[in-house]
Amino acid sequence: MTQTIEHRCDLLIVGSGAAGLSLALKMAEHCDVIVLSKSDLDEGSTRYAQGGIAAVFDDSDSIESHVKDTLNAGAGLCDEEVVAYTAANAKESMQWLIEKGVPFDQEQGENGEKKFHLTREGGHSHRRILHAADATGAAVQETLSDNVANHPNIHLYERYNAIDLIKSVAEPNKCVGAYVWNRKKERVEVIRSRFITLATGGGSKVYQYTSNPDVSSGDGIAMAWRAGCEIANMEFNQFHPTCLYHPDAGNFLISEALRGEGAFLCHEDGTKFMHKFDERGDLAPRDIVARAIDFEMKRLGADCMYLDISHKSNDFIKKHFPNIYRKCRSLGIDITTSPIPVVPAAHYTCGGVKTDFNAQTNIDNVYAIGETAYTGLHGANRMASNSLLECVVFAHAAAKHILSHLDGHYIDEEIKPWDESRVIDSDEQVIIQHNWHELRLFMWDYVGIVRTDKRLERALRRINLLKQEIDEYYSNFKVSNNMLELRNLVCVAQLIVNCAMQRKESRGLHYNLDHPQQNEQSGPTIIRRTS
Ligand code: FAD
Ligand code: SIN
Repeated sequence: MTQTIEHRCDLLIVGSGAAGLSLALKMAEHCDVIVLSKSDLDEGSTRYAQGGIAAVFDDSDSIESHVKDTLNAGAGLCDEEVVAYTAANAKESMQWLIEKGVPFDQEQGENGEKKFHLTREGGHSHRRILHAADATGAAVQETLSDNVANHPNIHLYERYNAIDLIKSVAEPNKCVGAYVWNRKKERVEVIRSRFITLATGGGSKVYQYTSNPDVSSGDGIAMAWRAGCEIANMEFNQFHPTCLYHPDAGNFLISEALRGEGAFLCHEDGTKFMHKFDERGDLAPRDIVARAIDFEMKRLGADCMYLDISHKSNDFIKKHFPNIYRKCRSLGIDITTSPIPVVPAAHYTCGGVKTDFNAQTNIDNVYAIGETAYTGLHGANRMASNSLLECVVFAHAAAKHILSHLDGHYIDEEIKPWDESRVIDSDEQVIIQHNWHELRLFMWDYVGIVRTDKRLERALRRINLLKQEIDEYYSNFKVSNNMLELRNLVCVAQLIVNCAMQRKESRGLHYNLDHPQQNEQSGPTIIRRTS
């Protein structure tokens, strides 16, 4: 057996999006940090975020109102204390980002003073979204990346996939590190660390159509599950109502901020329809809008619906939505004169690794932050622009807690070397490709916006079969990025279906035709591996 290369740090952060890098920056003055990124440093959902970040900055707005809107959107399943904590810490967290250099858009106030321009999105009763035009995520990601680059205590390991957490033998409720796959050298290494934080983003890639980049394969959630962490509310996968419908568009989102600034949904002939579904019309929470679009598409047999902002001035559209304008234009759609073809797509994992106020999981030295985590903030449906906020607020909470425990020791037990003696190079990559496509397609068809008991059962049968095949493949062949991601995606799919089967009601993002009612009593779905 060859020697496994071992690295050592105080804090291992798996993921380099808004959550991971915010934590790294908070901790780097105090200890040695390794940040893993399985692709390029900047690749993750953060980079593609458009609309912005919610925080109370306007005098006519209030933290109570932010709380109330979040609870409303969450359809009765938010943890009220967590919502209050997040909303109360929002301004300070945004000020931290501003200090780091995030260039949020500003405008001139009535008395000539500079103030932040605040936009609006679904579910928000006030203008409270800080943004950098329609590319807020890129501004956040680039700023945080610039700050971590060359920091002497932050060691960036790009193109490294975390494979699994390594449980301690001596202290069973702790981990000693993680097995990681060095993609450049094509070998498995070990990172030994006193604290580990999972910040790997969501798992929306488990669906055929998604707004997410390829890295969103739910790796942190699957790793945590395998290690024995509690997982919650995986049935609540959010479908964004408006992704661009065009064969060459890739995964391109049309921000909800367009509707916040007056755009409306309509049929091909211009007929508006959202008022039929909810009195808040186009600015109803996302679950309602996505379901309405799905309903209209199925009713009319249409391939897409349309979003129209062309009644706004040319200058306004180009100033507020330059990125969306350019992308659509490149595909032959002029949004200043024509409606935009849109469809819903999987967008956000509301559930995840269950954490407390310190972002700590039920494993003592393992934390989860950002989209990987379930904090209780989003309940049954996340309100727009509360996600980047949660990334920063809970990165700070984790930092505080880890800092107060930094004088702890390394668990210096021996780590079992990675055993590759029995595996061979695969000459059957086609199996991975095939399973990958099959999984994402049946998840879309059976576990999508509208579910039934039968569809969930059908999905579970297929998942169990795929899981068996993939586990076998995993034990016999050398690891590859596609194989690791598929292994995690199947696990995420299983968690989603398990949670969905337990919820015998329709609430927020989980809509089951066999249980259309909302139960009077309801709580989060919390699951934990038993074997
Ligand atoms: P990510 O930014 O997704 O980063 C995940 C990181 O983990 C990446 O670095 C990835 O390489 C790494 N990683 C994953 N697996 C592994 C592994 N096994 N090993 C090593 N590294 C790994 N939210 C808002 O609040 N406002 C918005 O306007 C908004 N717009 C959005 C628009 C789009 C198109 C999308 C997709 C999402 C949007 N969201 C928005 C949601 C928000 O962007 C994400 O929830 C948030 O950015 C997640 O940040 P994160 O740090 O948790 O994860
Ligand atoms: C958007 O800009 O519509 C996305 C906002 C979000 O997902 O929070």
